[in-house]
Formats: sequence, structure tokens, C-alpha cells
Amino acid sequence: MPHDYSCLETALARYARVALLDGFTPIQHLSRLSALPELNGCNLYVKRDDLTGLGGGGNKLRKLEFLLGEALAEGADTLITWGGLQSNHARLTAAVAARQGLPCELILTPSSIRTDEDFRHNGNFLLDALFGATIHQLPLGAAPDAFAAERVAALREQGRKPFVMPLGGSSPRGCLGYSACAGELLRQSDALGVQFDRIIVPNGSSGTHSGLLAGLTLAGSSTQITGYSVLGTTEQTLATTRDKSSQVLQLLAPSAVLDEARINVDGSQRGEAYGAPTDAMLAATRLLASREGLLTDPVYGGKAFAGLLASIRQRDIAAGSNLLFLMTGGIPSVFAYRGAYS
Ligand SMILES: Cc1ncc(COP(=O)(O)O)c(C=O)c1O
Repeated sequence: MPHDYSCLETALARYARVALLDGFTPIQHLSRLSALPELNGCNLYVKRDDLTGLGGGGNKLRKLEFLLGEALAEGADTLITWGGLQSNHARLTAAVAARQGLPCELILTPSSIRTDEDFRHNGNFLLDALFGATIHQLPLGAAPDAFAAERVAALREQGRKPFVMPLGGSSPRGCLGYSACAGELLRQSDALGVQFDRIIVPNGSSGTHSGLLAGLTLAGSSTQITGYSVLGTTEQTLATTRDKSSQVLQLLAPSAVLDEARINVDGSQRGEAYGAPTDAMLAATRLLASREGLLTDPVYGGKAFAGLLASIRQRDIAAGSNLLFLMTGGIPSVFAYRGAYS
């Protein structure tokens, strides 16, 4: 039976939004990978959110559509955000600011586990400068939120109106971008005539997972989502995803109820720490690249794809399932992690 998206689309239309995507991102069937006997007859599909067309692409653009809408509605004239040196969210905020003609300030923190030249200067960091952002590099251990507050105060003093983008773009308003994606993929699923049994996503700041879950809930879809935690522990990520999902659902429809039993977080792939490469991530990345010509990043997508392959091989997923892997982009960090692949 076709899904009812109208309720979701009406709810989303109440929020300011600036279009940053050129229509729907494609859903593609991975026929060569799905044919591998070890995949137990499962049909693997990918939704290509790495193909969003601005600033090198990636999932953060969907959140930025709503965050930029919010910023412009407040009369903002400068965008500020913070993250790690290789933050995809920072890179895309800088690209969006460039397209909008707004100054952008990025507050970037180093990593204690990767200190090599590529990590410090290549990948997202290189692109941030190309987009013309002002970059503040903080020392290890410094508090970026406190620094952002100082910058806000200084800019206001000069009569400017800064808007601080939340970490990872994952405020409830930002997460609406992925509720919109839920509507989009349900429309695509109906058009393709394929009912997805499970959607697989990387879970960092939990916004992608939470926005999707809230959107599917409002559209009446029972499709399961598995989020592979790459940042927090399983318990932390479960708690964040639960809180964010209900906050997003509250924005969409205050009377709707979240079924918390649907929140499925798998912490098996994070490895030693956030951003630490794992053997499973490297093997999964190589398999997807060599068999389908597709790229995942080492921090998010590579780990989530490794988790998906492990679940199929361990028979945690039923034979013949239709599985949709959300490709979230982040490809510039492949270059920052050059040493991990050699
Ligand atoms: C490439 C990429 N994939 C996935 C994620 C995870 O998204 P979220 O923070 O919404 O959980 C991020 C977040 O930084 C990302 O940059």
C-alpha cells in the first residue's frame, strides 16, 4: 500500500527552508555486491546522499537547508560553527555560506589520535579555506562552545548578527532535513515498488538517524533503522537518539508518539575511538569500492557499511531482505586519512 506522506510534508512546510539540493538523491541497486553468496540473498540498495551538489556533498546539506532557513529568518549575517579539524559539517557550512554570500567562521579542534600532516592540512580542512571561511584553530582540550560564545559577543559588539550552527547540524530544526529525506525515500520506494526492510545509517551526533525515524513515524512507515554508533558508546548514542527523535517528532506533530522500541543503535563498529580506523572499516571500504566503484568515508560510512556486512554475515538479518544503506558522503576525509589505507 502506498505511504501517506501528506501529513509529513504539511508539517515540514511550516519551517523556513532554503533549497540546497537539486531534487531527490538517487537510490541505486548494488547488483554485483548483492550477488555475493556471503550476502545471503539480501538485496543491497544505496541512497546517494553523497551526491548532494554543493561543496563536495554529504548528509549535512539536508540539515543546513533548515538551519539556513532558521538563520535567515532571524536576520543572521554571519554563520559560525565548530567541529573537529576534519569536520564535514564545518566544510559544508562554509560552502553554504559562500553560496549565500555570508561570512563564515569555523572553530576547529585537533584530534588526539591523528596528528599527521594529511590529517592536519588535507581533506575537509583544505576545502574550508577554499570556501573562504575564517578558521580559528583551537589547541587540544580547549572548549569550542565557549570560544563560539566569545566570537558571538565580539561580532554583536560590531553590530553584526551571527548565527551559531549546532554541532553536527543536529538541533531538532536541523534534523528536520532527515525527516524530509524520510518522505523522499518513501516516495522513491513506492515508485520503485521496493519495500525496504531496513535502512542503515552511521550515527555520530544522531541527527540523521533521529530525523529519519521521526519522519518515518509521522508517515506511518514501519521500516526499521539501524544506526551504527561511531562517536559515543552504545548507551550514550541510544539516549541521544531517543531524545532527539522525540524532539523532532514534537516539532512535526506534538501529539505524535515515538515508539522507543524502534530505536536500534549498534555500537560494535566504533573501534578504539571516534575517528580511529578499524580493520573492518578498511575491508568494507575496499569491498564497496572494488566491487561497485563507490566511496565511503573512514569515520562514518565505512564503519556503518562494515556493520551492515557483519550483520548479514552473522545472519542477524533475514535472508533476502531489502536493505537501504544511506551514503552520507564525507569523501574529503579519505585524503586526510591517507596513511590509514596504505
Ligand atoms: C559523512 C558523515 N556521515 C554521517 C554523519 C553522521 O550524522 P549525524 O551526526 O547526523 O549522526 C556525519 C556527521 O558528522 C558525517 O559527516
